[in-house]
Amino acid sequence: MVTCTQKGKEDMSEEELTVRPDSRISGFYKKSLEERMQTLLERGVITREDAALLTQRKGGLPLETADKMVENLVGILDLPLGLGLNFMVNGKDYVVPMAIEEPSVVAAVSHIAKLTRSSGGFESFYEANVMIGQIQVVGLDDLEAAKKSVLAHKQELIDMANAFEPNMVARGGGARDIEVRLLDQGKYQKMLVVHLLIDCCDAMGANLINTMAEGIAPKIEELTGGQVFLRILSNLADRRLVKSRCKIPFEDLAWKNFSGREVAEGIQLASQFAELDPYRATTHNKGIMNGISAVCIATGNDWRALEAGAHAYCCRDGQYRPMATWWIEDDAYLVGELCVPMQIGVVGGPIKLHPTVQLVHRILGIKTAAELAEVMGAVGLAQNMAAVKALATTGIQRGHMSLHARSVAATAGATREELDTLVDLLIADGEIKIERAKVLLAEMRA
Ligand code: MEV
Repeated sequence: MVTCTQKGKEDMSEEELTVRPDSRISGFYKKSLEERMQTLLERGVITREDAALLTQRKGGLPLETADKMVENLVGILDLPLGLGLNFMVNGKDYVVPMAIEEPSVVAAVSHIAKLTRSSGGFESFYEANVMIGQIQVVGLDDLEAAKKSVLAHKQELIDMANAFEPNMVARGGGARDIEVRLLDQGKYQKMLVVHLLIDCCDAMGANLINTMAEGIAPKIEELTGGQVFLRILSNLADRRLVKSRCKIPFEDLAWKNFSGREVAEGIQLASQFAELDPYRATTHNKGIMNGISAVCIATGNDWRALEAGAHAYCCRDGQYRPMATWWIEDDAYLVGELCVPMQIGVVGGPIKLHPTVQLVHRILGIKTAAELAEVMGAVGLAQNMAAVKALATTGIQRGHMSLHARSVAATAGATREELDTLVDLLIADGEIKIERAKVLLAEMRA
């Protein structure tokens, strides 16, 4: 019924497996912006025009295009775009652009992606591109009879829905199945809800789902004798799940003065806290979405849809649960698994309008929604591990402070040669402020 568009490592050509740029770029964060561009050019990650777009902002989203995207346009809001490095997902290297205002997130995922490499990186599996279109029917006396009638005409409804989106059908997608749910809850009006299951291929699919749902509504009224009310996609995309996993030996986990076993046990305990407590699960998941949403935004996808679906899915058994969990296996490995609904696409929407978003897709080198979802799942898992690893060992403020100190030191005017020393001085001093950095820099120079 549901098709799976997953492409496994074994299906890849030799070229796909070997030609991709290595996602490891040592000391990237220490380089100047110009040096970073130079490195990316040398590695074939970007072109000269791409570098001009990124650093001189030549060729970004034109105001005229933005004016067609939203109403009452007055300008364009920028976000920092960083590169998540070291990612290996299903045996392939990925340089992962992330749009986010929060410091530490990009560094944190890159650090964990590096740590997972010697144990094979991340495995990710995307179930299918199937979304649900909902059609609400009210004014029914006999819900069971209406349900029977809809199900008896399943194929006719599927064919009818597909006739509204022949291009999607030609691309191998389209309506696949019909399900019917009955909502009969005492004081509320009785309702029948038709779910139209649609394979959206490489599109997020919102528009086509809504078109199909609206398109078959009159037939649903005819079949049920009721009145159709709402016709809209559901963002609870529980047929579009990505599952990501990593398995890291204790010896790769040693950190500062913590042994690998201590780190693994700490992460396991942090995971159990999130599994038991919705208050903790919410923050645990916020960290995961730091990674996933940053890629979602950079790739021009609808992060509100993704966030809504991801959090709703976490409540599927009645309690808000973590999107990713960690445990120790064979007294030697830390295993992490994430499962999140991933309603994203690689075609349509801002992807075809926004030059920087297009560049992001070129850097990722991804052609299918399945592959993008698989990378995003890995980023979410990496982000989670980074957060719980820090929380279970040194606490997060220490790492945050050194990154913050770096940006304060740079803003105070430190040269590349002076940067590391000034960062150390600022951290030792405890007052990480630009004015203080200027004083310390002057003292250093004197
Ligand atoms: C901060 O943006 C995210 C964290 O709070 C996530 C977590 O607590 O797991 C560090």
